[in-house]
Amino acid sequence: MFIKINHKTTEEPKMDNKIDGKAVAAKTRAQVTQAVASLSVTPCLAVVLVGDDPASHVYVRNKIKFTEDSGMRSLEHRLPENAAQDDVVEIVRALNADPDVDGILVQLPLPSHIDSDAVIAEIDPAKDVDGLTDVSAGRLVLGQSGLRPCTPTGSVILAKAALGDLTGKYCVILGRSILVGKPAALMFLEQNCTVTIAHSRTENLPLICRSADILVAAVGRPQMVQPDWIKAGACVIDVGINRVPSVKRPGKFRLVGDVDYKPARAVAGAITPVPGGVGPMTIACLLRNTVLAACDRRGLERPAILEI
Ligand code: GUN
Repeated sequence: MFIKINHKTTEEPKMDNKIDGKAVAAKTRAQVTQAVASLSVTPCLAVVLVGDDPASHVYVRNKIKFTEDSGMRSLEHRLPENAAQDDVVEIVRALNADPDVDGILVQLPLPSHIDSDAVIAEIDPAKDVDGLTDVSAGRLVLGQSGLRPCTPTGSVILAKAALGDLTGKYCVILGRSILVGKPAALMFLEQNCTVTIAHSRTENLPLICRSADILVAAVGRPQMVQPDWIKAGACVIDVGINRVPSVKRPGKFRLVGDVDYKPARAVAGAITPVPGGVGPMTIACLLRNTVLAACDRRGLERPAILEI
């Protein structure tokens, strides 16, 4: 007699708790395309790229491609690595003054001899599609309408894709950066969450993370969040993008998040992968902000389809 061995039983069990950031980003971009088609004007995004950073060149190429794919116009200004700060500021001022430009994005990081904060401070807040100026940050703190930073916006959209209404959920943000952690805390608060900001110096960090219904990991430490930091069934949004040496391919690198994904996925109710989670949402939210900026600047109502 033969005993039939089902080799498939040794495979990883199929779980449907992965939040597909690529699919949610494609949906957001489709909504942007629909919103653009409904407008009487064609929004325009200007991107400023300084230097030779290969990753920045890839990001900018993608931003321009997706901008044009959604029916908007794009402008690109490239400056050499040794460009002076005044050259960058001059371009930003010209874009501020151009009535046809709705959004300005200065790709970061800038070369180290340039003061990024000083350049960002030059951007007209009405065109601040990155949501990085002090006016945009202030409007977020004050609860006023404005342009919100893209990565935190993407994190909220992904959490809502998994959970629906976030009202009353306990949200722990791990990380306190001005780019992600702080604005994300305020944006989850806007969604009626109860929010705690934790960070690398927080006492009893695993315990605090384990109490979260929504855990947003934005601490920039590869695979720091372990499965026993996660409440069973919680929604985990991993903002981390860390390059670590590949074990399988010596000399090569691979991308991992701030969460130890594979074991964490066995505990979480829903979790974003890296890559393919929050990353694709950042560009989709940049496009969304460009439409919102175009509407706000022209006194047009924001398209309902872009409401979060
Ligand atoms: N570099 C990497 N991500 C971003 C981003 O979202 N905005 C800007 N301006 N630069 C980046």
